[in-house]
Amino acid sequence: MTGASSGIGAEFAVRLARAGADLTLVARREDRLKQLAADLAEAHGVRVDVLALDLGDEAGLETACARLAETGDHAVDLLVNCAGYGSTGYFRELSLERETHQIRVNLLAPVALTHAALDRMSGRGHGGILNVSSIVSGLPMPKSAVYGASKAFLGSFGESLYMEARRSGVHVTTVRTGLVRTEFHDAAGLDTAGLPKMAWLTPEQVVAPALKAVAKGRAFVTPGAMNRMQPYFLAATPRPLLQAVVRRMYRV
Ligand SMILES: NC(=O)c1ccc[n+]([C@@H]2O[C@H](COP(=O)([O-])OP(=O)(O)OC[C@H]3O[C@@H](n4cnc5c(N)ncnc54)[C@H](OP(=O)(O)O)[C@@H]3O)[C@@H](O)[C@H]2O)c1
Repeated sequence: MTGASSGIGAEFAVRLARAGADLTLVARREDRLKQLAADLAEAHGVRVDVLALDLGDEAGLETACARLAETGDHAVDLLVNCAGYGSTGYFRELSLERETHQIRVNLLAPVALTHAALDRMSGRGHGGILNVSSIVSGLPMPKSAVYGASKAFLGSFGESLYMEARRSGVHVTTVRTGLVRTEFHDAAGLDTAGLPKMAWLTPEQVVAPALKAVAKGRAFVTPGAMNRMQPYFLAATPRPLLQAVVRRMYRV
């Protein structure tokens, strides 16, 4: 479980522990991971390990991938790729170093972890992989171009692997979430003041349907009734009109 130190990832950890699953929590903030691990172990009697590392760092990612190679009682049945972050600003003005790090965390890490997990899970004939994408993946996202593209990548990647893996007993599910109240927007420097209150979901409202979709072996799940309307809106809107709406929203 990556991204377990806050928001949606922490909620995945809570739900899975409640269901009796042993967990390995991955993120950078060790203090948070250790606290959550202790709380979950005490409340649910499950084993919770902590891997405090940076997924954008080569050594960190290798350590996380190595965890997926463990077998027996420690074999991973469900990989949740939830870690991710965004940035805000015109691409040309953003630090290339930070944007590249973002690509490593949002995109390379899920690719490497999925590769490690798929191999083992296919061998065992069962398993699940869950990638957290976004409803922005069908849209242009000026001032968060790398972030938007990273989420679009996960959607395409996940659906292709869903098709490749389905006969092996491994399910690959992509969660397309809309706005969720977490630390994400502050971390990305995004101003959310003007966004409609009704558009927001809680982590619980994302995680419950996501885990149901995994159990049912679905390729995609989009939590929230309003978010589920988005594909119809996109299909019915000519691209130039959509771009005009997006330009106004992002003030570009
Ligand atoms: N919130 C939304 O509105 C929204 C909408 C669509 C999609 N999403 C996606 O949902 C996922 C979870 O985000 P969230 O909303 O729960 O935000 P969040 O509360 O900011 O959580 C992000 C998680 O990712 C981890 N993370 C970030 N950089 C990392 C790194 N370099 N190495 C390891 N872990 C790292 C963070 O842990 P540390 O900081 O401790 O490392 C944290 O646990 C993300 O992939 C995000 O793109 C969110």
